[in-house]
Order: sequence, then structure tokens, then C-alpha cells
Amino acid sequence: MSTQEHADKSGFETRAIHAGYEPDPMTGAVIPPIYATSTYKQDGVGGMRGGYEYSRSGNPTRTALEGVIAALEQGERGFAFASGLAAEDTLLRAVCRPGDHVVIPDDAYGGTYRLFDKVAKVWGLDHSPAAVSDVDAVRAAIVPGKTKVVWVETPTNPLLNIGDIEALASVAHDAGALLVVDNTFASPYLQQPITLGADVVVHSTTKYCGGHSDVVGGALVVRDLEIADQVAFHQNSMGAVPGPFDAFLTHRGLKTLGVRMDRHCDNAEKVVEFLTGHAKVAQVIYPGLEEHPGHAVASKQMKRYGGIVSFRVAGGEQQALDVCAKAEVFTLGESLGGVESLIEHPGRMTHASVAGTDLEVPADLVRLSVGIETADDLIADLDRALG
Ligand SMILES: Cc1ncc(COP(=O)(O)O)c(C=O)c1O
Repeated sequence: MSTQEHADKSGFETRAIHAGYEPDPMTGAVIPPIYATSTYKQDGVGGMRGGYEYSRSGNPTRTALEGVIAALEQGERGFAFASGLAAEDTLLRAVCRPGDHVVIPDDAYGGTYRLFDKVAKVWGLDHSPAAVSDVDAVRAAIVPGKTKVVWVETPTNPLLNIGDIEALASVAHDAGALLVVDNTFASPYLQQPITLGADVVVHSTTKYCGGHSDVVGGALVVRDLEIADQVAFHQNSMGAVPGPFDAFLTHRGLKTLGVRMDRHCDNAEKVVEFLTGHAKVAQVIYPGLEEHPGHAVASKQMKRYGGIVSFRVAGGEQQALDVCAKAEVFTLGESLGGVESLIEHPGRMTHASVAGTDLEVPADLVRLSVGIETADDLIADLDRALG
């Protein structure tokens, strides 16, 4: 059995390290080389080596990344993109047409909402928001004959609401629609939506998949070859692909996803314990808490509850901004899922684009991306910042 065939039948961490790539036949390189080339010599017209002709259409460093992400999500095929939003845009054009309709989360990531509301809508793709945690609300938001996609984030960004993927898949399929799950927050280590009935998984690989805040990227994993063909056609036609250096970095990040996620979860649990009951904290939002309304569903479909913790600061917006300003080990910044801890104010930062809409987030909300530093240092920092 080859290394890759072995990986295909193996556990998550083995797949993360071996799937998608055989050591280079010429040199034995155990890590996929960075194929910094735009084109490939053909052995006579049309005589392509390994199917490579031009790097927008395919590049071996990207192929390796696409293979491993598909293996981790247990899908039929994976596709890498220049960003999460490029992946989303390509998917929408592959599976929707003008006049179609999409149900989106009523607390979708701000950039996703902007893509639907300010870009896709102009091209004739309508959308309705619904709470992913409420299966009946999602069913009610479907427009019979027009809804082509039910789009779900779980956990959502930044309110960490939980959607029941199995139940939502059957709602979408009953309506003849696809279930698309943005799995950025959970990562494939904690949740594999295709095994629960989803048709397509979306990632901002910028986050946990890359894991080191050093590369922007996106991915799609599809369960079905017919959708794969559509996505492959659009990936090449639209061209929003990552370069080989970016593909290399994301692939390198994926190899350690399992160990990183366990440490993210360990640290997040300790942070949650510290924040719970703190006099300056009005509410802690974390799906691992029994009082979280999505706790039972999260326990059913996630291995653990993730590294993102949101909380509302007693006193209001200014107090929330003060906490963000005073934190030191938690770096004030957008994004999430890297090894370093980050703190942000969603209302003014990541979710500023939904201000004044139905998707507006509370002004006293702070979001933490809990990193993999020493937990005691993170807690001491929050203690100081909450003052
Ligand atoms: C849940 C989620 N989906 C998609 C995106 C978009 O990804 P990118 O920033 O890589 O384009 C983000 C970015 O923050 C996100 O948090």
C-alpha cells in the first residue's frame, strides 16, 4: 500500500500528515515542494505530465493541499482558493443562477453577509436570513422552487450559535436545495459536516486550518462528483486560486491541526471557567457550557467545543472597548484560529459591515480567539484587562 492509500484508511492525524501526497518520486522529498511555476513543459502538444498545463488550472503544491483537506473532511474532492470569500463566491456562481434564492444565517460572518447582500444580490441572487439554531425558522425561510442553497455556519461567528447539521440537511434536501456548511470555526478536527449530510463544506483556511496567521486562503470540499465538476470548472474559469507558497503554508498548518485544536480547546475551557461568574462579565458565550442553548447539539456533532469564546462585558460598549484596549497577551486584532490569542470588538471590527442591519451584534460583545500559549498567562491577562 502506498503512503497515501494507507492514509486514506487511517485516523484523522495520520490523514493530516500523509493524505494527498506521495513522497516526491524523483527526490523522495517527504514534504510537497513549492512548485513556483506558472507553466509546464509538454511532451509534444497535449502531452502533459501528470495533467499539469498551467498553474491557474492546477499546480502540484495546490493539488497536495486539496487532497489533504478533502481527506480530512471526508469529501469526494477538495478545492483551494485565494481566500475564504473567494471560495464562497466561486461556489455561489457554480451552484446558483440569477433568480435563485439562498437562506443564510441571521448572524453570518460580516464578510459573508456583505458578499450575499452587496455583491450576489446585484447579480440577481436573493437571500433571507434565518437563525441556524432554529430548524423551523430555516424551513420557513425557504422559498419553494427558488432556494438552491441553505447556508449554515456552526458555530456562528461571533455569537457561537449552533445549527443541527443533520436536521438542516434534511430540511435543505426536502426543498431540493444543497446544504453548505461553513466549518471555519470548528475545523475538520472537531466536526465533519459531510458525514452529517452536508453537500459542501466551506473554509476560511486563514483560520484554524492554516493556524499560524501567516497566510490567507479558502477551501471547498464537496461530497458529490457532479458538484465537484461544477466547482472545478468555476475554479479554473474565475481563477481565484492560491499561489504555491500559500498552498504550501496552509498544507503545513494542516499537519498539526489535531494537536493545535486540542490545546485551543483546553485553553478555551480554562478561560471560560475564569470568565464565568466574574463580576465584570455579564454573559459568557461558549457551546461547551451546559446553559448554552446549542450545547446538546454541539455535543452530538462536535468532538469538542472549539477555541472561540465570546463574552458580554458588564456596563456596555465603552467597557468592552476598554477590555480590548488593556489586554496585552491577547493581541487586539481581527481574524482567529492562529496559535496566538487575539481579542476583538466584533461590533466595531469584524462585524462592522452588518451594523444597522438585522445581523447587528451586541455593542458590549468581546470575541476571544484563544491561542495555544500557557493558559495561566492568558487568564492573568484577562484578569488585568477586566481590571
Ligand atoms: C466564518 C468565516 N467564514 C468565512 C470567512 C472569510 O474568509 P477569508 O477572510 O479567508 O476570506 C471568515 C473570515 O473571518 C470567517 O470567519
